[in-house]
Amino acid sequence: MKATAKAHTNIALIKYWGKRNEELILPTNSSLSITLDLFYTETTVEFDERLTTDIFYLNGEEKGTDETAKVSRFLNHVRKLTGDTRFAIVSSQNHVPTAAGFASSASGYAALAAASSKALGLELDGKELSKLARRGSGSACRSIYGGFVEWKKGVKEDGCDSYAVPILDQKAWNLSILSVMIESKQKKILSREGMKRTVQTSPFYDGWLKATEQELRIAKKAIEKRDFEMLGETLEKNAFKMHATTLGADPPFFYWQPATLEIIDCVQHLRSQGLLAYVTIDAGPNVKVICQPDDERKVFQTLNEIDSVKEIFVCHPGPGISYL
Ligand code: DP6
Repeated sequence: MKATAKAHTNIALIKYWGKRNEELILPTNSSLSITLDLFYTETTVEFDERLTTDIFYLNGEEKGTDETAKVSRFLNHVRKLTGDTRFAIVSSQNHVPTAAGFASSASGYAALAAASSKALGLELDGKELSKLARRGSGSACRSIYGGFVEWKKGVKEDGCDSYAVPILDQKAWNLSILSVMIESKQKKILSREGMKRTVQTSPFYDGWLKATEQELRIAKKAIEKRDFEMLGETLEKNAFKMHATTLGADPPFFYWQPATLEIIDCVQHLRSQGLLAYVTIDAGPNVKVICQPDDERKVFQTLNEIDSVKEIFVCHPGPGISYL
């Protein structure tokens, strides 16, 4: 009754921003991501009748009540599926540097969904696993698959049609994703809280919903045609629109720092010189720069010269879930 799974994190090219159901984690819009090779989580889950509570270790350290409660809430979904009532020891190794500014929740919940369902003898297919991972964190449902992945928002109230589907294999189109870290001491507004406030209060949210559907269609077309310029233009516009919604929220907020703008500026300057590179930004100040592998070196060197850049991690499309 023990299983270990490995899941990689992902970066959204068309963002998931807003829920229609908080409890079931159902999104208001479909999204599209690339699973990344460099960052992942490995999780072992062992159910044991002698345990009187769930226990959670992260990077070898036993976690306190708050973090363990989140893991327990997730395990309850798996226990419900099987009728099993046993508690579990969950041990996770996060190979997602905290400094990388990636939410480890995507790889974390994808690995937890895979390991816990397998440990209880459930043989879930990708679709069911994706729905299960979604209950932990929305973006986790996309980390079940490698390469380019779409999370179909679904329309059903119970969420049975809200899951990720693979759209292009990791080896089919190599792109470079440079994850650019900047110094930041700002207190973080978590994506869960930020998107909720935006949905509830931002008059720009309707505009986001209208535009994002169209952008998703264009991005999928660009992937199909391997048209990098079309994909880049679209993903950058989509990220900017997501961030624009937060300025209309009440109270307003934004994730960008001066250094965020410096990087955007630098990438746009490269573009004016004919080099195709584009930015995307999640719920934080760090920037991911996407370019073609032939331009990776030049982009890295140029960004590395900016004083406020702390570190740059170079990623490529990575694999989906695996069992160890
Ligand atoms: C900006 O998946 O972390 O990174 O479902 O509330 O856990 P919850 O949110 P989460 O949100 C990710 C938001 C984003 C965009 C994206 O990854 O699509």
